[in-house]
This record gives sequence, structure tokens and C-alpha cells, in this order.
Amino acid sequence: MSANKPQPRIAPLAVRPRKDRAQPKGLPVINLSFNELPFAPVGTVQKVIETVAKQAQNYGDPGCVALRTKLAEIYRLNPDQLICGNGSEELLDIIGRAFLAAGDECLISEFGYIQFPIVSNRVGATLVKAPEQNYVTDVDALLDNISERTKLIFLANPNNPTGSFLQTREVQRLAQSIPSSVVLVIDTAYGEFVDAKVNGENTQAMHELVTQHENVIVTQTFSKAFGIAGLRAGWCHVPTWMLPLLNTVRAMGPVNAIAQAAATAVLDEIELIDQRITSIVSERNRLVDSLQQMPFEVIATRANFIMCSPMQKNAQSDQQGLNREGYSELLADYLFDNTGIVVNLAREAGLERFIRFSISTAETNDRLIDCISDFCQQ
Ligand SMILES: Cc1ncc(COP(=O)(O)O)c(C=O)c1O
Repeated sequence: MSANKPQPRIAPLAVRPRKDRAQPKGLPVINLSFNELPFAPVGTVQKVIETVAKQAQNYGDPGCVALRTKLAEIYRLNPDQLICGNGSEELLDIIGRAFLAAGDECLISEFGYIQFPIVSNRVGATLVKAPEQNYVTDVDALLDNISERTKLIFLANPNNPTGSFLQTREVQRLAQSIPSSVVLVIDTAYGEFVDAKVNGENTQAMHELVTQHENVIVTQTFSKAFGIAGLRAGWCHVPTWMLPLLNTVRAMGPVNAIAQAAATAVLDEIELIDQRITSIVSERNRLVDSLQQMPFEVIATRANFIMCSPMQKNAQSDQQGLNREGYSELLADYLFDNTGIVVNLAREAGLERFIRFSISTAETNDRLIDCISDFCQQ
């Protein structure tokens, strides 16, 4: 290209590339790297998807009125303070674009969700990371890192990839202690796995913060506990004054018709969703117990996934002179080759020795644990 090539406004992010290879034994591939639910949408939701698909010549409702009305009813919120998005990821993006510009600081916790640096980078803001204590957000460290240039704090709770949870009262303290000019975004994508139900105590406490403070936003998603990740639907609860602003930044019809209808329908299945959440939470406890009996470093999790790292090297890793990061990669390959299970290799600086996997059905979890146990004994 010539010397006069276009000069982009931002630098591209460097990411660790994912390996893409065929399963060597022809086993079905089970992806546990995206923190999804292992259950298919319930029959009633599948029916709605089919019905709306037959009317795909029509746009979805740009205002998502039916979905917002249902959400407001279930969470006991004002529907006029809710905005739906193409996954909560889209909402994080529009919030970033509404409040951050080049020269501003975006503050996150040390191992905060990877989308936060991505959103910050998109708008050319400066990312500031506050150190954590044992992989948990430290409110005092966040407060210490607020400067005159801080415009936005993103907090995922529970956090991805660590799975760690900041106690409700600590989040409340954060909301009370920050300057009113700083926006606090509380991303509760995994909140249902804290309360072990939809709209439990912690979730309600987070939404109360939006009612109490003019600078707090809560985001939620239909991708995790509600199990419709592929349709892309999320929502956020914002102070009233932010509505025209966020609506200015966003696209006209962000949530497609099928996603809107399916998300509305899944809200009629709360009892079943609660049962599914309970089963994931009980499998989570079982998996953590099993891993703790092996030479594994396991980070305490309140989400639907576990971040952990094998500690004791095996003969093969010794032979290859691998460090813990290399050892984790070896384990990920071993799992894929022998079970078809794909786990996530943490890409964040400082977490390279960890793998992360979603909690699945008892059967898949057993296969995962058996294979990890074989690996450790080699
Ligand atoms: C912490 C957190 N927030 C938000 C999201 C985005 O979810 P979605 O865009 O599917 O709603 C994810 C997805 O993995 C996540 O881990």
C-alpha cells in the first residue's frame, strides 16, 4: 500500500488466535467455551420462533414494546426505563459510545470482561485497570483509580472470565462512593447463577441502584440463564434522562423480530428457567468439589462456568519443558482429542495459565471430569 494509506482513528486489538482443527476421532464437538446453557429452548419458545420466522418479511417492533412490558412486569420496573438490544454486548457498545471519547478514561477491574477494553478501544478512550484481590474486584482500588478524566466504570458481576462475585453490599458501596459525573455500568449477564433464580435478591438490589442513582445502568441478557444466545437479545435498565441519549446512539431496529418474540415467550417459562438454573448451580458445586480433589487451582465462581488451572505437571509436559500456560494448552488439546469438548484458553494478560469452561449437563460434566482426571494421572 502507498505511504498515504488511510489512517484509522484507533489501533486494532491484539488477540490470541483460536486453534481451529477437526476432532481427530470423529466425535461430536461440544463447545463449552462460550458460557452458554446446555439446554435447547423449550417447546413453546421453539413454536414462537417458527411462527415469527414465517412472517420474516416484516420488521420487528423498533420499540420492543411487548418485550419491555413483560420485562417490567416480571422485574417490577418502569418499562420506559428499559432498552432492548442485539445482545447485551450491543448495549455495552452504545453506552460506551454515548459516554466515552478520546482522552476520557474508562475504568475496569483488573481481569474485567474482555468486551470492556474492546468498547473502550473503539471510541479511543484510555483504559484504566484497578488491581484485584484474589481475582475479585476491589472497590477501594476502583475508587483510588478514579481521576478527573474518568467517565465510565464497567463492572461485570459475576465477572467473566474469572466467575468471581463482588458482594452486593460492595457494589452498593461503589455506587454510593463514585462521583455523580461518572457512569457505573453493572453487567449482570450471570446474575441468575448468583441468586440461583431469575430476579432474586442480588438482581433486585442492582436494579434498585438504578432507581436510586442518576448515573447507574444495569445490563442483563437472554443469552445465559434464559438460553437463547443464538437469537441475540439483551436489555438494560437506565435512569430516565439517559433514554433519548442512548436512543440517539443506537441503530433503529436493533432486536430482530424472532429474538423479540422468543425473549418475550421465554419470560413465560420462569419456573422451568429457575429449574435449569438450579441444576447448573448444583452441577457447579459438584464440579468444583471434583476439581479441588485434583492438583488444580480453582477460582471461586458464582457464574455458569469455572476458571481453573492444572498445577502438577505430567510426564509429557516435563518432556516438552512446558510452563503452566503450555500445560493448560496441553490439557485443552487432550480434552478436545479425547472427548470433543472445547474449553476456553484465557486470553487476558495474567490469566494465561487458566482454562475456562461452561457447566453443562451431568453427563457431559462427568465426561469432562473423567478426562481431566486421566490427564492428571499421565
Ligand atoms: C460478562 C458478560 N457480559 C455480556 C456478555 C454478552 O452477552 P450477550 O451479548 O450475548 O447478551 C457476555 C457474554 O459472554 C459476558 O460474559
